[in-house]
Amino acid sequence: MRTVTVGLLGCGTVGQQVLRLLERRRDIFDNLGVRIEVTGVLVRDAARERDVPPGTPLTSDPAFLGESSVLVEALGGIDHPLALLLPYLRSGRPVITANKALLAECWDDLREHALAGRLYYEASVMAGTPVIGPMSTVLRASTFTRLQAVLNGTCNYILTQMEGGKAYADALAQAQALGYAEDPPTLDVGGFDTAHKLTVLARFCADGNFPYSAVEVRGIEDVTLEDVAQARAAGERIKLVAELRREGEGWHASVSPRRLPVTHALCNEGASRNAMVYEGEECGALIFAGGGAGGMVTASAMVGDLLDWLIGFPGHVPLH
Ligand code: NAP
Ligand code: HSE
Repeated sequence: MRTVTVGLLGCGTVGQQVLRLLERRRDIFDNLGVRIEVTGVLVRDAARERDVPPGTPLTSDPAFLGESSVLVEALGGIDHPLALLLPYLRSGRPVITANKALLAECWDDLREHALAGRLYYEASVMAGTPVIGPMSTVLRASTFTRLQAVLNGTCNYILTQMEGGKAYADALAQAQALGYAEDPPTLDVGGFDTAHKLTVLARFCADGNFPYSAVEVRGIEDVTLEDVAQARAAGERIKLVAELRREGEGWHASVSPRRLPVTHALCNEGASRNAMVYEGEECGALIFAGGGAGGMVTASAMVGDLLDWLIGFPGHVPLH
């Protein structure tokens, strides 16, 4: 049995579930002949009581990065994780992250590490519903034409609750209590989180350097209960839709609230769930749907990435 040292950054909604899943699936690591040792868990307040396995090495000191052979990042934000991850990646060690804001906005720094297969980020888009895996592998053989997707669980939850008559502010507060929302939630309701995710996806099917600034963004803040009710009366639902499609020689990327028929593939999913219709000339139209926000569903993709690394699969390599 060999020991693999894992450093965890963050112990909130996602980080706590990563710890829980590492315990729950110990058998699968045993089968690989691996014993996981968590070297440290970075938090702001190490004294705060948390629901974590006994002996969890909570700390506000990132010194444990030095003795970790792989990092799992679930901090959020941009500048702080970037400052921790860049030196680590430059040392040639792998990083698993759910941080789509970082990926979308700091690509100039991260791209070389992604191309080298050191960056694993299945959880960053649609959480535990695998889309980056297929898009970074088998789907590349097909000529990409268009994708449409619902990529934000918080907005989907809010819009679904509003269909039942709940006020926007109350629905947002509920989504925050359920651990779906970003900090701050403007990232969700303003459409920016969806734009981050669309940018990450675009780098697998359109342009390996697709810039975040190229996405046109409109959020759901102005959607009213009346708008939602009118759509329902017409047999439609309002969804925050991300779209990427060919336009001339380039690509058009947008995020905006849209009315879709209730029978549309993007409308069939439950409150916090995500869905994507991916179209390629040869593969045809494919539908991906499932959990898109929440601690355990996100942890499942991160621990899956850890297993991929242990088995020897490279991280998620964008288009060259
Ligand atoms: P969260 O609940 O707010 O947890 C963040 C954790 O990071 C907390 O444990 C916090 O410490 C720690 N932290 C933040 N800033 C820190 C700092 N400066 N120094 C040390 N520790 C710091 O966030 P989350 O919902 O787990 O999300 C984490 C990441 O996963 C984000 O990038 C998010 O976009 C992504 N993600 C989230 C979901 C979801 O459904 N929640 C799904 C997919 C991806 P304290 O506990 O001491 O405050
Ligand atoms: N805030 C995000 C959402 C978390 O609601 O979809 C998952 O990325």
